[in-house]
Amino acid sequence: MTAYADFYRRSLDDRNAFWAEQAKLIEWHHTPNSICDESRPPFTRWFADGTTNLCHNAVDRHLKQRADQPALIYVSTETGAERTYTFRQLHTEVQQAAAVLRGLGVKKGDRVLIYMPMIAEAAFAMLACARIGAIHSVVFGGFASLSLASRIEDAAPKVVISADAGSRAGKVLAYKPLLDEAIRLSKHKPEAVLLVDRGLAGMERSTGRDHDWAELMQRQRDAKVECEWLASTDVSYTIYTSGTTGQPKGVQRDVGGYAVALAASMKHIFLAQPGETYFSTSDIGWVVGHSYIVYGPLIAGMATIMYEGLPIRPDAGIWWSLVEKYKVTAMFSAPTAVRVLKKQDPAFLKKYDLSSLKALFLAGEPLDEPTARWISDGLGVPIIDNYWQTESGWPILSLVNGVQAQTSKFGSPGLPVYGYDVKLVHENTGEELTEPGQKGVVVIEGPTPPGFMQTVWGDDERYVKTYWETVPGRMVYSTFDWGIRDKDGYYYILGRTDDVINVAGHRLGTREIEESISSHPNVAEVAVVGVADALKGQVAMAFVVPRDASLIADDRAKLKLEGDIMKVVDDQLGAVARPARVRFVSLLPKTRSGKLLRRAIQAVCEGRDAGDLTTIEDPSALQQIRDAVAR
Ligand code: PRX
Repeated sequence: MTAYADFYRRSLDDRNAFWAEQAKLIEWHHTPNSICDESRPPFTRWFADGTTNLCHNAVDRHLKQRADQPALIYVSTETGAERTYTFRQLHTEVQQAAAVLRGLGVKKGDRVLIYMPMIAEAAFAMLACARIGAIHSVVFGGFASLSLASRIEDAAPKVVISADAGSRAGKVLAYKPLLDEAIRLSKHKPEAVLLVDRGLAGMERSTGRDHDWAELMQRQRDAKVECEWLASTDVSYTIYTSGTTGQPKGVQRDVGGYAVALAASMKHIFLAQPGETYFSTSDIGWVVGHSYIVYGPLIAGMATIMYEGLPIRPDAGIWWSLVEKYKVTAMFSAPTAVRVLKKQDPAFLKKYDLSSLKALFLAGEPLDEPTARWISDGLGVPIIDNYWQTESGWPILSLVNGVQAQTSKFGSPGLPVYGYDVKLVHENTGEELTEPGQKGVVVIEGPTPPGFMQTVWGDDERYVKTYWETVPGRMVYSTFDWGIRDKDGYYYILGRTDDVINVAGHRLGTREIEESISSHPNVAEVAVVGVADALKGQVAMAFVVPRDASLIADDRAKLKLEGDIMKVVDDQLGAVARPARVRFVSLLPKTRSGKLLRRAIQAVCEGRDAGDLTTIEDPSALQQIRDAVAR
């Protein structure tokens, strides 16, 4: 058996001993005796009698050895800001922020919703919540008022932390009006709103509710706030993600299991050493930002770069210049970003000294072979694809090179990661597929490893129903991804089995987009599907049946309505969810029982065969889709 095969087997067969060993990678206030409690499947409780704190492990723990080493490096090519915070300085900022939150009445278990651009204060806010045991819920700054409202309503935060604005490609995006509108729409009203004023956009303040971050921080200048010792199974945060229904799910994570999972992944997968620098280009609004901008690198005692800006501004060398300047050892990005760079002058890849860089990790969407080869040749470092989900919190498939150097195969994110009992099953029968090359649904056999979601926030039943009861005859966790495995055990991910689409690495629910489009008064019916795109991986394509059918023959009216519909989506969900095109038809392809034939629509859009159409109500509907696409 190879070293990794042995490591992997022990993680499943000798689970308690394996994870007790990994648990030593973090500091505990009370060291756990209970390791894996699987007495109530599919819920798993990790290190249940242990107590610890994420902020302690990310910040305070490092004060002994590296107080004056860099911890957070904030770079914005949007505003020109660039600042390094040492662990000592980070400790001070986080204590102040914790004192501010306490001053606003935030206590252990209270929710704090963070709707912020990529600024250092966002990391302070997250860590401050972790410090006092408040549950943070970070919402991606690219989401607009309706998306935000549904999250405010579900998380019911006592406090919301936000800023005047974000900025993208030099264009200021005001957050405050979107936040005000979201609070207006939400049934739940936060008691207080804490606002960072970047001086980018003016802000109207609501007296009594809105507070100024800088002012309150200043008042807590010398604050000392100790970490709360939390039960390992206490809730650290929730993060909302899309699924089959229009209503986003709050993925809920624990404290101790997450800390251990991240510490172990930093060591075994991301080849981290304390004192080095990690650069993840994601956003704190996504799971990668939680795990590998904020918590993972800091827990590992590394400096982490928080970058606000595009990969190609001021030019396509910006990321590599940061690698040179800060001696980045590990970088984490998404295939879409690489495809964006691929359109630029390749000389930028050679312009800077990249000798510190050990590997580039890519995740979030399928990594196509040409893109992988281009960046691998250009940088001259290994490219390590890794597959996971908001739900898992850390890689499910990857190469665990820290345990044993593994051969990589282009197009595959690699092998099951320790702790994950990954299987392929038949979609309809649930039967396990064991032969190489068979296509099936990627599932995980319980108990789920540390760091994995605990449940859906406030809805255990939804957690069980959504994830654990979809495969006939078996209680397994469904990833909702198609996959195949080759003879060497390497997996290949072939896209989602549900209505989730992946646009530029951003996970979006087509149902949410449909609901938003339906709110336009001239929309009778709508179908949104994900269509393959050379740059973004997928884009959303909308097919609308207008209430006013005469519009279909009028090109100018169609163009106007298309623009209006896009604006509705921009305003409600955010530009990330805007469909690439809106096409108009007089009816949508459905089965005789009235179910939308999404897969057929998608196939037609991608120029593939529409598949089995025996149940279609009216074949002319699909012809209309074909014609609309051809136009
Ligand atoms: O479809 C898979 C795709 O992204 C989904 C999860 O997205 P999200 O919850 O935003 O988490 C991203 C964490 C990196 C998956 O169900 N996906 C993620 N990574 C890969 C991938 N598809 C192919 N290859 C990957 N490496």
